[in-house]
Amino acid sequence: AIDFRDLFKSYENYNEKEIEIEGWIRTIRDSKNFGFIELNDGTYMKNVQVVFESHLENFEEVKKYSTGSAISVKGILVMTPEAKQPFEIKATEITMEGESDPSYPLQKKRHSLEYLRTIAHLRPRTNTFSAVFRVRSLAAFAIHKFFNERGFVYAHPPIITASDAEGAGEMFRVTALDLDNVEKVDGKTDYTKDFFGKSANLTVSGQLEAEIFALAFKNVYTFGPTFRAENSNTTRHAAEFWMIEPEIAFADLSDNMQLAEDMVKYVVNYVLENAKEEMEFFNSFVEKGLLDKLDNVVSSEFGRIDYTDAIEILMKNNDNFDYSVQWGTDIQTEHERYLSEVIFKKPVFVINYPKEIKAFYMRMNEDDKTVAAMDLLVPGIGELIGGSQREERLDMLEKRMEEMGVPKEDMWWYLELRKYGGVKHAGYGLGFERLIMYLTGMGNIRDVIPFPRTPKNAEF
Ligand code: 4AD
Ligand code: MG
Repeated sequence: AIDFRDLFKSYENYNEKEIEIEGWIRTIRDSKNFGFIELNDGTYMKNVQVVFESHLENFEEVKKYSTGSAISVKGILVMTPEAKQPFEIKATEITMEGESDPSYPLQKKRHSLEYLRTIAHLRPRTNTFSAVFRVRSLAAFAIHKFFNERGFVYAHPPIITASDAEGAGEMFRVTALDLDNVEKVDGKTDYTKDFFGKSANLTVSGQLEAEIFALAFKNVYTFGPTFRAENSNTTRHAAEFWMIEPEIAFADLSDNMQLAEDMVKYVVNYVLENAKEEMEFFNSFVEKGLLDKLDNVVSSEFGRIDYTDAIEILMKNNDNFDYSVQWGTDIQTEHERYLSEVIFKKPVFVINYPKEIKAFYMRMNEDDKTVAAMDLLVPGIGELIGGSQREERLDMLEKRMEEMGVPKEDMWWYLELRKYGGVKHAGYGLGFERLIMYLTGMGNIRDVIPFPRTPKNAEF
C-alpha cells in the first residue's frame, strides 16, 4: 500500500488508476446506497476520503465499521477539483485489518488537552499530537543536521553519574533494587552506596562530560534526556526533559551566542520548510500569528543586554510584577517574558549575571562580581537556553568551588582538564521541549513530550 505522504505528492500520476491504501478510520458516515470514510495512515497530516457504494460485496458490513478501526482499501483514484481534498478513492474492496471497539474514546468531537493527557497511549492519533510529535521528530533531525554540517562530534554523556553538574542538588538518586547486595550499616541500607557500593544519580546535565569531549574534539554537542528532581508544577518544567548541549573550545561568550542564534534560526527554518502542513495547522488552531512570529525570529538579529541594564529596565516596572527585582536577584519567568515580549519583542540574550545566582563553572568577569553567563529569553516561553563561558583558570575555578561548597575531591578530573591544555571554552544547554513549545505554540510542556514526567505523573 502507498503511504499518504507519498500519495499526496504524486496523486496526479494515479488519476483513474487503482491503488491500495491502509490506515485508521477517523470518521465514517453512510446513507442508504453509499458512504464516506475519512482515513488516516499516520504518515501525513491529511486524511484521504474513501467513497464506498452498494456494489461492494461487504457493503452492509462496512457500514458498521467503527471509528478507530484499521482497514485496507483497494480503489480507483479520482480527481475532485471542486472539493477540499484534490482527490478521493472509490473503493473496489475494503478489508477489516483490526477492529476498534465502539468505546474508542477518540470520536469526532474535540477533546481537551487535559483529557488527552490521561490517554497518552491514544493521543498520538489526534491531529494535534500527530503534528506535535512530527515537528518534534523533524526538529531533532534538524539539530543533528546543523551540528553535523559544522563538523561537531555528537558525544554521549552518561545518564547515571556521580556528579551534580549544576551544583544545585536537584538529583534523583539511583538505587539498585537488589538491596540485599547493597552495603548496609547496622543492618540498614547505606544510601550513599546503593549503586553497587557507590552513590549515583540521574544526570541533570551532560555539560561536564561535554567539556571533556570539547577539550579533545574542539566542537561537540550532546542530545539526550536529563533529569531534575524539582517538585514544581509549572507549564515549563518537567522532571525528565531532553537537552542539547554544545560545547566549543577556543571560544568565548560571543562565539557561544553566535552559535546559539545560528542554531535556533536553522531549526526554525528547517521546520518551516519541512513541516508546512503541521505549521499551518498550529498557526490556525493553536497560536494565531505563529508563522509571523517565527518568520521574525529567522529574519531579525537577536537582542543582547547586560543583566545590569536589564535589571534597571525591570525595576521601573516592579509595581506590576509578582516579585520585584533589584541587582542581585535571579530573574523569574515573568521578568524574562517582560524583557522578550514587551521590551525587545524578539529573542534576547541576557549576559553577565551576578556570580551568586549562577553555577560554579562560569567564568569570572574582570569586575569580580559577574560571570560570563548567557540566557536566551524568548517571547511566550521565557528561558529557552542557559549557557556560559567556562572558568578555564585552575586557581579561579578552585576558589569558586570552595566558595560555593562544591566538593573538589570528587571533581578531580574536571580540575585536571584545566591543568592539561585547558583553554577558553564555552557552551550552552537548550531545553528541547521548550523549543518545541516555541515552534508549535503549545502552552504546556506536558503536551510536547510523549510521556511527560511531572509531579504525580508517571502512569505511562
Ligand atoms: O539553565 P540550565 O539549568 O543549564 C544547564 O543545565 C547547563 N549545564 C547548560 C550548559 O551550559 N551546557 O538548563 C538549560 C536549559 C534551560 O534553559 C531550559 O530550557 C531547560 O534546559 N530546562 C528545563 N526544561 C524543562 N524542564 C526543566 N525542569 C528544565 N530545567 C532546565
Ligand atoms: Mg538556566
